[in-house]
Amino acid sequence: MNRRNWDSFVVEQLEDDRFAGLCGLAAQEVDGADEIELGYRLMPEFWGRGLATEAARACRDYALRTLGLPRIISIIEPDNVGSIRVAEKAGLRYERDTRKWDRVVRIYALAAGRQSEMPSWSSRKA
Ligand SMILES: CC(C)(COP(=O)(O)OP(=O)(O)OC[C@H]1O[C@@H](n2cnc3c(N)ncnc32)[C@H](O)[C@@H]1OP(=O)(O)O)[C@@H](O)C(=O)NCCC(=O)NCCS
Repeated sequence: MNRRNWDSFVVEQLEDDRFAGLCGLAAQEVDGADEIELGYRLMPEFWGRGLATEAARACRDYALRTLGLPRIISIIEPDNVGSIRVAEKAGLRYERDTRKWDRVVRIYALAAGRQSEMPSWSSRKA
């Protein structure tokens, strides 16, 4: 795997183009393996509108279809229910618990080819 920092995208609210947060791909080492993490972070005033789900699905498709990566993961703290739900709605599934950044984290993962069963990024209400 090369050492590019991977890609981040701005998330904007479509109705008024306001900056809502970031979603993107980041290189991570997990248990000695090189992985690409799908991450998302929105400003609180934009939570609960489906934006993170829409952005995560778009980044998932970009990673697996456009870039042709073999797999993506999300690294999520066990009590981050919202983030877990976003990962699941983007098609990632619980894989295992491990330690990262000196704490226990959950690894959610999706392999290329499995995303065809998932709603596309444009299916906002799915
Ligand atoms: C996690 C985060 C990205 C969710 O963003 P969001 O735009 O509110 O998410 P969505 O509106 O797309 O919601 C997706 C689902 O998660 C659920 N959800 C979101 N936040 C939740 C919470 N705090 N508790 C329970 N469920 C939650 C929604 O109800 C929705 O589920 P549903 O469709 O079954 O009703 C946002 O809260 C955030 O930026 N948090 C801080 C940063 C962070 O934790 N990032 C992830 C690091 S791993």
